[in-house]
Amino acid sequence: MRLSCAAYWRMLCRALAAQGWALVRERPHEAGGAGGDSRLPGGPWPRDWSLLWTAALRRTGEAAESLAALDAAARARRTNRGPYDDAPLAPELLGALARHAPAGGPAITVRHLTGHHERGSFAEMLARHGGIDFSHPAAWRETHSYIRWTPAAVRAHGDGFPVAQLFGPMSARQRLAKRIALAPPVMKVLCRFGYDRSLAGGLAAEVRRTPAVVLMHFADESPGLADAFRGGARIADYWLHAASAGLALHPLSVLMQHDAPRRTLQAQLGLSGRLFFISRVGRPRTAFPPAPRSPGAADHRTV
Ligand SMILES: Cc1cc2nc3c(=O)[nH]c(=O)nc-3n(C[C@H](O)[C@H](O)[C@H](O)COP(=O)(O)O)c2cc1C
Repeated sequence: MRLSCAAYWRMLCRALAAQGWALVRERPHEAGGAGGDSRLPGGPWPRDWSLLWTAALRRTGEAAESLAALDAAARARRTNRGPYDDAPLAPELLGALARHAPAGGPAITVRHLTGHHERGSFAEMLARHGGIDFSHPAAWRETHSYIRWTPAAVRAHGDGFPVAQLFGPMSARQRLAKRIALAPPVMKVLCRFGYDRSLAGGLAAEVRRTPAVVLMHFADESPGLADAFRGGARIADYWLHAASAGLALHPLSVLMQHDAPRRTLQAQLGLSGRLFFISRVGRPRTAFPPAPRSPGAADHRTV
């Protein structure tokens, strides 16, 4: 969640900088940190919002980058969970993606798995552990509650995953079959027959056909909020750069969200510190519909 907020914040900062607003000061607000200042004081925002980050901006009038190019990259940026072209990506492009770091950050390393063997070992880990999200009843109930099965549900909730975003375009019959199979009580039964492993195996097969998997990790094993914000910025910059080059991403966070597989993966790849982002990267073979966006004004409050 913090990484997502931070990635959004980075895009907002870059959009402001492209319109002549320079960042002069930033400050993290750790929950329970010095001064215990993470709860927002009373104001025109929901009571359960927490203060994460504050910043001061100054008008300079100088554009830090082209707003038109940034706008095009942001519109092209998309999660695509479908198959990717398995032709290798140019090493120069991967090199540029790995180098493109925001200035002054802490040690963040970007690594690409491109070789047949290393992608194969990663896919094997995913096949072995990737079913956790489905087989854990409480975790699956929570994930499932965010799946939106109809356009009306997407509009009514204003958040979550539209089903076409998860599985690509489907016929009405395919959608109904998925809706039944993924319902938590049905999933619980199907997992006894290995459905979780079969779903994880499908994801692993997709990874084997993907030209690159990107991994980002902090040198530090227990990163704080400021690190998370720099990590999120790194994700946003990487993703925008990739989108400008015609590439799509499909994050695979499941191996990081549970400590045991994360540690095994880090040991297997010789990565120290803490892994914070894993994603397939490639040229998508099928177009995916854009995820719905809530109208900006609804999520902003003026103080
Ligand atoms: C840091 C991060 C990790 C994510 N991990 C996953 C994941 O493991 N699986 C997944 O289906 N979506 C994941 N997502 C969400 C999607 O990538 C995506 O952002 C969301 O569905 C909205 O679609 P869009 O990227 O096309 O705007 C992650 C997003 C972020 C920012």
